[in-house]
Amino acid sequence: MLKSKIAGIGAYVPEGVVTNNDLTRFMDTSDEWIQERTGIQERRYGKKFEETTSTMGLKAAEKAIANAGIDKEDIDFIIFATLSPDYYFPGCGVLLQRALGITKTEVGALDIRNQCSGFVYGLSVADQFVKTGMYKNVLLVGSEMHSMGLDFSTEGRNVTVIFGDGAGAVVVQPTEKEGQGIINTKLHSDGTYAEKLAMINPGSHGGYHAEKLEIDVDYGYSDAEFGEIFVNEHMVENGQMFPNMEGQFVFKLAVQKFPEVIMEALGDAGLSPQDIDMLVPHQANLRISKFVQKRMGLSDDKVWNNIQKYGNTTAASIPIALAEAVEKGAVKEGDLVCLAAFGSGFTWGSALIRW
Ligand code: COA
Repeated sequence: MLKSKIAGIGAYVPEGVVTNNDLTRFMDTSDEWIQERTGIQERRYGKKFEETTSTMGLKAAEKAIANAGIDKEDIDFIIFATLSPDYYFPGCGVLLQRALGITKTEVGALDIRNQCSGFVYGLSVADQFVKTGMYKNVLLVGSEMHSMGLDFSTEGRNVTVIFGDGAGAVVVQPTEKEGQGIINTKLHSDGTYAEKLAMINPGSHGGYHAEKLEIDVDYGYSDAEFGEIFVNEHMVENGQMFPNMEGQFVFKLAVQKFPEVIMEALGDAGLSPQDIDMLVPHQANLRISKFVQKRMGLSDDKVWNNIQKYGNTTAASIPIALAEAVEKGAVKEGDLVCLAAFGSGFTWGSALIRW
C-alpha cells in the first residue's frame, strides 16, 4: 500500500488583533485572569462582512497549494473542517471549491464537523484516500470564524475569551520515499458528554435530549407544531444560541485523553515519547499543553505552542501551529511529528508523521 505525506502547508490569520484588555470593554474579565488560566495574550478576529470561514480557508489553501508546488486543478478532493461554517448548509467545502475556481466537476468536497479534532480526523480521511490510490492531491482545510458567534457579555466570558479566528491547510499526496509520511492516525469519540461543550441551537432537537438528560432548559417552543422549532426568538433573547462549556469538566478529560491517544499512536508504531521531535497539540489552553508536555517528559523545544497569539482556533489550530513550526525550521525532514487533539463531542485523536 502507498503511504501519504503532507506535501504542502499554509496558514492565514486575519489582521485584526484583539488583546485581552480589548475584551474588558465588553465583559467583566481581565488580562491577568485570561493569561493565568489559558496563556492567551491576544487573538485575531476576521473583518466582519468581508471575511468568512471559507474566505480565510481559501487564503490558507492557496498557500498550501503553492507550497506543494501544484496547480489548483490538480486537487482531486477537498476536506473542510469547521464548527463555524458560512452557512448551516451547504458546507464550506463547496464554497472553497467555487472560490478556488476549480473547473473540474469531479472534485469531491467533504465537510467535517468534529470541532477541535476536525483537522486530525480530516488528515486521517485524506490519508486513507491517498493510501488506497484513489486520490493524489487531497486539500484539507481547517478554518474558523468564531468571532461572529460568541457571547460578548459577561455571561459568555468563560467561552469567549478563549477563541480566535484563523485558518490552516495542507495538501496530502502519496510518497514513495522510504520512511517518510503519515505513520498512523488514531481517532476516538465518546458522546456521553456531548452537551458539556456545545452549541445546541439552532438545531432539530426540539428539546429532546434535554428531556432525556433531565436538563431544565426552556427553549420556548411549547406551542410550536411547525416551524420556529429549529430557531426562534426565545432562543435569541435568552442567549441560547451561543456555545456553552463546562470548563473544568473539559479540562479534566482533555489532560487524560491527550496523553492516552499520543501513547496509543506511539505504541502502535513501536516508538516512545523520547522519539518525538515535535508535538503539535491542538491549541486548547496553554495549561493543558504544559500538562501534556510534562506527562510525556518532553522539553520545551519539542512542543509547539502559539495559543498566546491566536487563542483557540479549533479546527484551524493544528495546521496554523504546524505551518508556523515548519516555516521557522523547527520541523525538518526526517523529524517525527505528533499531532494530537481533543474537543467537543467529545472526540479526540492523534497522528504520527515522519516529515
Ligand atoms: N474572566 C474573569 N473571570 C472569569 C472568566 C473570565 N473570562 N471566565 C470565568 N470566570 C470566573 C467564573 O465566573 C468563576 O467565578 P466564581 O468563582 O465567582 O463563580 C471563576 O472565574 C472560576 O471559573 P472556572 O470556570 O471554575 O475557572 P477555571 O479555572 O476552570 O478556568 C477555563 C476556566 C475555561 C479557562 C478552564 O476551565 C479551561 O481552560 N477549561 C478547558 C477549556 C478548553 O480547553 N476548551 C476547549 C476544548 S478544545
